[in-house]
Amino acid sequence: MSIPSFVIGIAGGTGAGKTTVARHVTEGVGDAVTRIPLDNYYEDLSHLAFEEREQVNYDHPSAFEWELLRTQLSTLLEGQPIEMPVYDFERHNRTDDPEHVEPTDVIVLEGILALYDEEVNEMLDLRLYVETDADVRILRRIRRDVIERGRDLDGVIEQYLSTVKPMHEQFVEPTKKHADLIVPEGANNVAVNLLEEKIRAEIEGSSSRTWERESADGSAMDQL
Ligand code: CTP
Repeated sequence: MSIPSFVIGIAGGTGAGKTTVARHVTEGVGDAVTRIPLDNYYEDLSHLAFEEREQVNYDHPSAFEWELLRTQLSTLLEGQPIEMPVYDFERHNRTDDPEHVEPTDVIVLEGILALYDEEVNEMLDLRLYVETDADVRILRRIRRDVIERGRDLDGVIEQYLSTVKPMHEQFVEPTKKHADLIVPEGANNVAVNLLEEKIRAEIEGSSSRTWERESADGSAMDQL
């Protein structure tokens, strides 16, 4: 158990490749990474029937339990473990079994709205926004939702047009302004390699949170 020294937020539209970027930038720090998918903090909708849960707008900020996320992130930052909820996309609800998560050197929060909440943003040492063309994102989403999340094609298209796309434009895209860096699609690019080196050096070189508030005023970028 350790006090985390570096907390990264990775936002971007659905299918942008956030998970891939997260994996690449943290490659150099081995097992010292804890991944916190924002999806796990979707509100508990056990009180609704499945058919009602299917109709929820999952791309609106109100779909998430922000208070729980803030509390659990703070707990990890204090070096304490959490019982993280786990989300089941097929049931549109949390599972009954939370996951025990111990704090590690690096924490990565990733999700469409990872840079949305002001208090969460303040806890992040580095804020990334992964930018990927919308056509590429929707193609990935169709494949993923149909193959991995048990959805039918018409439903995926209808959801994309009615909520995913408009919410992306209204809420997700504007969070780009909170990002320290906008990472272009394609994980093997210069930005990702520089970040990987930087994060490794940060963890190996010091236990202090040297980037902590520097990134908030932009000066951390001078170090890249
Ligand atoms: N979502 C859904 N059904 C639910 C809950 C969420 O379809 N019951 C969808 C939301 O519409 C939202 C998406 O899940 O758009 C969020 O997951 P996303 O960020 O798309 O995950 P990835 O595509 O895995 O991210 P990336 O490809 O960038 O790694």
